[in-house]
Amino acid sequence: MLKPPLRHFLDINTLTKPELRYILDLAKKMKQIATEEGHGKGFVHKYTPLKDIALAMIFEKASTRTRLSFQMAMHQLGGTALILQGTDMQLGHGESVSDTAQVLSGFTDGVMLRANSHETLLEMAQNATVPVINALTDFSHPCQVMADILTFEEKLGSIKGKKIAWSGDGNNVAVSWIHAAVLFECELAIACPKEYKPNSQVLGWAKNNGGNITVTHDPAAAIKDAHCVITDTWVSMGDTDKKDRLAKLAPFQITRKLMQHSDKDSIFMHCLPAHRGEEVTDEVIDGSKSVIWEEAENRLHIQKAILLWCFGK
Ligand code: CP
Ligand code: NVA
Repeated sequence: MLKPPLRHFLDINTLTKPELRYILDLAKKMKQIATEEGHGKGFVHKYTPLKDIALAMIFEKASTRTRLSFQMAMHQLGGTALILQGTDMQLGHGESVSDTAQVLSGFTDGVMLRANSHETLLEMAQNATVPVINALTDFSHPCQVMADILTFEEKLGSIKGKKIAWSGDGNNVAVSWIHAAVLFECELAIACPKEYKPNSQVLGWAKNNGGNITVTHDPAAAIKDAHCVITDTWVSMGDTDKKDRLAKLAPFQITRKLMQHSDKDSIFMHCLPAHRGEEVTDEVIDGSKSVIWEEAENRLHIQKAILLWCFGK
């Protein structure tokens, strides 16, 4: 039997521009409704489109924000969230991803997966008969960047044509920002050491798709006139070369002095968890330009919109 077309949320560049804009606008609406209806964090929306929906949430890596935001989004929309640690599942003990995908599709209506390897995510999506959501892999973190864009637009209006600067490791979050720069038509200036550049295939894809993206080794040049300055940990989950990373990434730390190159109304974002004193100073992350707490909370509102889109609700 043929599978109906499934709405997986695998990466920002696996959706169309109108789909992405739909999700973003829906998140803004859901946030507004939550402020009207939500008297306590454990509230349930008056309209509960996910009432009969169960979501398997698999974590092969640690999580605070992603886990809480998906779990609370499911609860507030009336659905059921099942939290599964990869190591507790047979998946972590030799059962294949494809067999797991078949079994999960029999019990649940969707799978959210935080995977060590992006290949696992793709294999899950190929074999599941329900929507699969990327909750971070070694390659990308699209849900995070959708929340970042929501935060940007709340603070500074449409992201189209605006300058985003990234200083630090060219990691999974940076890859999703490259996808976003192409699809949301913003400028992205990345400053990183040559050893920690973002995935070259993704940079090539961006170039072929009209992306306005530059990669430099000079953080001040990247940050010049930027509307938003972003960084992330220098040592992502699964990275083993910590000592090298700390040494090579040191010149890319976001400091108050560096922030002075940005636009006067610029904001600072970080997906968290932060390593204060490494990729960013306390002064910046706790400073007046920092929007990290709103950014973290916006994970909830964007997750709701992503879930509603995936389930066609
Ligand atoms: N930003 C983010 O994904 O945080 P967690 O690892 O806590 O989920
Ligand atoms: N780049 C980080 C993001 C954590 C949310 C990591 O993969 O560990």
